[in-house]
Amino acid sequence: MIDHNTVERIMELANGQIVDVVSDFVELKRRGVNYLGRCPFHDEKTPSFTVSPSKGIFKCFGCGKGGNAVNFVMEHEQFTFVEAIKYLGEKFHIHIEEEEETPEMREKKNERESMLLVTQFAANFFIDNLLNTDEGKSVGLSYLRQRQIRDDMITRFQLGYSPQKKDALIQEAKKKGYKEAFLEKTGLITVKENFKSDRFRGRIMFPIHSLAGKVIGFGGRIMVSDPEKKYAKYQNSPESEIYHKSKVLYGIFQAKQEISKHDKCFLVEGYTDVISFHQSGISNVVASSGTALTVDQVKLISRFTKNVTVIYDGDPAGIKASLRGIDIILAEGLNVKVLLLPEGEDPDSYSKKLSSEELKKYILDNETDFIKFKTKLLLDDAQDDPVKKATLIQDIVRSIAVIPEPITQSVYVKECSRMMDISEQILLKEISNIKNKRLHDAEQKARRERMLRSKDTATQQNIPQEKNEKNPLKYDERVVLRYLMLYGEIVLYNEEPEDEDSEETPVTVGEYIITELKKDNITSDNPLHNLVLDLYEKAEKGEGFTALKFFVNNSNVEISELASDIIGKEYELSKIHERFGGVPREIELLIKHVPKVVAELRLKKTKLTIQELRLKLKKAQEDSNNEELRSTMEEIKKWNHIKSHISKELGDRTII
Ligand code: CTP
Ligand code: MN
Repeated sequence: MIDHNTVERIMELANGQIVDVVSDFVELKRRGVNYLGRCPFHDEKTPSFTVSPSKGIFKCFGCGKGGNAVNFVMEHEQFTFVEAIKYLGEKFHIHIEEEEETPEMREKKNERESMLLVTQFAANFFIDNLLNTDEGKSVGLSYLRQRQIRDDMITRFQLGYSPQKKDALIQEAKKKGYKEAFLEKTGLITVKENFKSDRFRGRIMFPIHSLAGKVIGFGGRIMVSDPEKKYAKYQNSPESEIYHKSKVLYGIFQAKQEISKHDKCFLVEGYTDVISFHQSGISNVVASSGTALTVDQVKLISRFTKNVTVIYDGDPAGIKASLRGIDIILAEGLNVKVLLLPEGEDPDSYSKKLSSEELKKYILDNETDFIKFKTKLLLDDAQDDPVKKATLIQDIVRSIAVIPEPITQSVYVKECSRMMDISEQILLKEISNIKNKRLHDAEQKARRERMLRSKDTATQQNIPQEKNEKNPLKYDERVVLRYLMLYGEIVLYNEEPEDEDSEETPVTVGEYIITELKKDNITSDNPLHNLVLDLYEKAEKGEGFTALKFFVNNSNVEISELASDIIGKEYELSKIHERFGGVPREIELLIKHVPKVVAELRLKKTKLTIQELRLKLKKAQEDSNNEELRSTMEEIKKWNHIKSHISKELGDRTII
């Protein structure tokens, strides 16, 4: 448990510096009072991701995601709330006081962090060995020199060397007080029949960094030439709590800013390919590290750019891997180009044969879109064979069919039609067949899942399905909550004193809203909306209190998210205002608008209540339940009275 005060301090600080927090992951540009960037949560070309430093929130108008600084890192790094607070605490150098907890609790909770500490320690150990020990220098460093890897690249990628000795790391870790358990959990040591030894021995070490730059795993390359292939060229860290191979790309930490800047990402296969490209001045490059490209990896790239060029070896294995990758990239809505290198070359070897300028030119001249790539690859032996040609067309059409964006899709249809000499109509028909089939499959799957789910909820919670219906007053309630959240502490008007001697009492927007809504015991169908009012009413409103801070920084994540969402909508409003110009600032109009929106909500709520009561009345009539009939009629009368009262209030106001 982190104590409550610390959580609040961190949240306030982080939300106050939200631009700083977000900038670690997204490139932001100033636009008036706000900052604008490309949303990391969905694909977009034109930026609609807005950060408001004054409010301490972000909001994307493309995908609707929004929240405060804590919500942002939770979403972006997939952190839990506590992890996010710890991350931000570290970022802003706030010492976190932990409340009393049992050793087991502490251990469990700190496991990830301890693992990260151990991997960072190991990375430092390997670096130190490479640069400062005789063995490291004579074996490791000389190998890197022989491969022409420059010192600045060794530093940039934190390359290291693991000594031959079977327990060098274990010994050093013990000396420094690191627990063996975490060395084991991160796979830095292996255990065989109770005998522990270092996993990496006598290898060049490539640390693998998370997006945020933490060391989460390693690849270790053997240096001896091994023509019989007795040893694996690389040993890699196993999957662990901190290292999920399918979600990581080698080099993403060092490349992310360059990828955004060039709006393009090169995808290569290996560690050395990435490093050599950097060395040649091409830094927007990542590697899938020898495994097949995954959807999560493509999603990771798509946070920074929509343009990917796959550069794989020209050997059959490389070609096969690039073909597989293409469809995954296309399906995520990205543009993909392919570059095959001359036979026998990989990005590492080829970049060393050309100057930086030549390499860049070679890439530009030779990268081709996927249709040309597939066609060139297969057409040679398919040209005179109609069956093979048909298969090739099928293959290309299947790739085109996964593209989510219709315009891009039609561009490719045109190109394919031209290259394969086949009519566009036929291609389009085929695409639509494929799509229909996929849609059908997806629908069936969804239906199956829905059935399973509804069975669950119906039996478990025993509630009729209709109860889950949307709150019909959602919009009206949010309008009122928005005023509460933005202007809660502002004085709406001063109440006249009861007698001459006493002073006027100021009534704030928050007080007004809560009193008015409580008048008729009106509650919302949405429990979260009720909670907002409840929390606000009970909040301690000391000096410096603002409703905005109270809600946006609220330690109840659901509340702070709702707040950011509701407040975020304001940008849209202010945009409209700007367009018409000369509209008085909202804060000056509170006395006109707040009573109006509150009364409108009350009126609608009242009308709904009356509607429900009428249904009840009808049922009571059918059942000839006289007792019920009478009491319902009473109720309806009461609500009709309230209704006319509110209507009158509203009418009065409209006249003003
Ligand atoms: N790889 C691996 N295990 C192996 C071989 C390869 O994990 N036994 C992964 C590594 O991530 C490697 C990538 O596949 O970087 C590409 O393999 P390869 O081209 O063989 O290695 P390079 O990194 O290019 O190494 P080098 O240039 O030294 O041959
Ligand atoms: Mn290679």
